[in-house]
Amino acid sequence: MAPLRLGFLASHNGSNMQAILDACKEGRLAAQPAVVISNNSESGALARARQEGIPACHLSGHTHPGRGALDQAICAALTAHQVEVVCLAGYMKRLGPQTLAAYRGRVLNIHPALLPKFGGEGFYGQAVHQAVLAAGEKESGPTVHLVDEEYDHGPVLAQARVPVLPGDNPETLAARVLAQEHRLYADTLQRIARGEITLAGLTR
Ligand code: GAR
Repeated sequence: MAPLRLGFLASHNGSNMQAILDACKEGRLAAQPAVVISNNSESGALARARQEGIPACHLSGHTHPGRGALDQAICAALTAHQVEVVCLAGYMKRLGPQTLAAYRGRVLNIHPALLPKFGGEGFYGQAVHQAVLAAGEKESGPTVHLVDEEYDHGPVLAQARVPVLPGDNPETLAARVLAQEHRLYADTLQRIARGEITLAGLTR
């Protein structure tokens, strides 16, 4: 079967995206990175994409002002690169209706907590881990889920669990969760590529 064509949207470092690129290169994931899109021209994700020779696009409210223009540009870039599955990897913006409609059921996100707990607007990065620690949780871990119109919402595809240890701070907990994010995201995509998880919108 042809490799699954992946499109990435990322705002910051892009370590999750890199873990997926590495899995493709090492043959652990039957997929091909087709395009990387970032709203942040300075993002590590765009730098990593250029380093790897993957088409990289800076698309933001600055490059595409006006209602619907950014959504249209993102959707056009994904379709021009024949993306089959969209991976949000630390993308801090909501997708617009055109992109969501074109890719409904084929957009994945990774979140650094066990959804439905500790998700939604404002729950990003350290804020998530701070909330987990403040709630006295005994465990945490990443969630891969399908994306819909709401932040950190939509059916859960996979989760991994790590302990919250005595003496943890947001940084130590984040590092433990991030290591699992890198494994979980690539593994979940491989289960999709192998047909073990079927996505309603994906015809292969
Ligand atoms: C990851 O921890 C990801 O789970 C989180 O942003 C980080 C991005 O790191 N996403 C969210 O909090 C979404 N609500 P990365 O840029 O190194 O992949």
